[in-house]
Amino acid sequence: MAKIIDGKKISADIKEEIREEILQRKEKGEEVTLAVVLVGEDPASQVYVRNKKKACEFVGIRSLSYELAADTTQEELLSLVDKLNRDESVNGILVQLPLPKQIDEDAVIRAIDPKKDVDGFHPMSVGALSIGQPGYVSCTPAGIIQLLKRSDIPMDGKNCVIVGRSNIVGKPMAMLMLRENATVTVTHSHTKNLKDITRQADILIVAIGKTKFITADYVKEGATVIDVGMDRDENGKLCGDVDFDSVEKVVGAITPVPGGVGPMTIAMLMKNCLTSLELK
Ligand code: GUN
Repeated sequence: MAKIIDGKKISADIKEEIREEILQRKEKGEEVTLAVVLVGEDPASQVYVRNKKKACEFVGIRSLSYELAADTTQEELLSLVDKLNRDESVNGILVQLPLPKQIDEDAVIRAIDPKKDVDGFHPMSVGALSIGQPGYVSCTPAGIIQLLKRSDIPMDGKNCVIVGRSNIVGKPMAMLMLRENATVTVTHSHTKNLKDITRQADILIVAIGKTKFITADYVKEGATVIDVGMDRDENGKLCGDVDFDSVEKVVGAITPVPGGVGPMTIAMLMKNCLTSLELK
């Protein structure tokens, strides 16, 4: 029986730590403000944004909400970003993705002041991460490092295999794992003999968006498996990229879906908002 890594509990601990630090900062007259921008009415994005604002409220971060119509032009959005960049009372800017088709996402990400890029998506943040300089780190990979550290799972010298090479998870995850002195392999849809590679992993991190893709024959006995997937099974039930029931019998530790990686993303966003005070 594998140890179940409880992301809900770990994220609650982190949010509690942040809440206390923000309270102390407030006594010194420091305040953190996050601007949250949502364009359009994508239901999933609405839920994410609502949860982010709720977390802000819990930890004591002031959140400003900008809800723009689905037909907002790129120019209008860039002008809002510019206004928020120049507003000294705003520490962090989060533009919820995906954006409607008429807007170039990369252009919007590039427009955000890197000092306020609490999502860690700006090329400057990504570059800083890859050469080990201070900057914002993408929230999901940063959350996975916390899950491992707080579960006492060693990374130094371990074989870490990442399945998926997205800009938001796979690539920054590789950089963070290198920083922890793991030996890192990044695999993707063109990888040959995937199973042979994943079976070498002491730590296997899966972020491909394919329902229950990783089955027991992909993992080594005793490995740690981190499931970043957020999928629905044939009955519409929330599940991950890992076939939990079969893999759990073989590995040493595993994150569930829901309740594993998911709750960590928002906790790390709150942490990045706190970091914004240092980068100001
Ligand atoms: N859409 C899905 N995940 C994220 C995220 O972490 N940040 C932003 N801005 N949009 C998202």
